[in-house]
Amino acid sequence: MAILRIHTIPGDEAFLRRVAEPVTDFGPALQRLAADMSETLPTLGGIGLAAPQVGVSTRLVRIDLHDPEDPDSPTPFFLANPRIVAAEGSASLAEGCLSAPGVRVEVPRSAKIEVDAQDLGGAAVRLSAEGLMAIVIQHELDHLDGRLVVDWIAKGCPWWKEGEEPAEKGTLE
Ligand code: NI
Repeated sequence: MAILRIHTIPGDEAFLRRVAEPVTDFGPALQRLAADMSETLPTLGGIGLAAPQVGVSTRLVRIDLHDPEDPDSPTPFFLANPRIVAAEGSASLAEGCLSAPGVRVEVPRSAKIEVDAQDLGGAAVRLSAEGLMAIVIQHELDHLDGRLVVDWIAKGCPWWKEGEEPAEKGTLE
């Protein structure tokens, strides 16, 4: 396994803006990428990571909301070729992004989503998510289509710089 370099704006913006390719081969290269993403994410204190953020333009995301101190917290997992098939309600919080260091933007999201995807073995999975889980999944799926939280600044969403307190807002690292 290896710790991968996180691609960030502005230097890697062109790459991060690509629309990622579907996963079609669930063989050793994908498994190696997954292992490296699993190892990389906790070193950064992040809760989600999309393959384009580590320089691979493929539709794979890692979601890690596991809290070692909380046995009831979710086990980290991967979604390959994820697709939101249902969404309802609205929610937002000040989202951070490993690819946009120091910036937090309050992005409007759906409160509850249903996602169709595949697991690392290629099997079809469907999951329902709400709360922080729903928001982090939507954030990571944006990466697969080349969208970044900073896009929302231009749309007038409130944003904060590192060190500023996002008053009474949750924070998504
Ligand atoms: Ni991000």
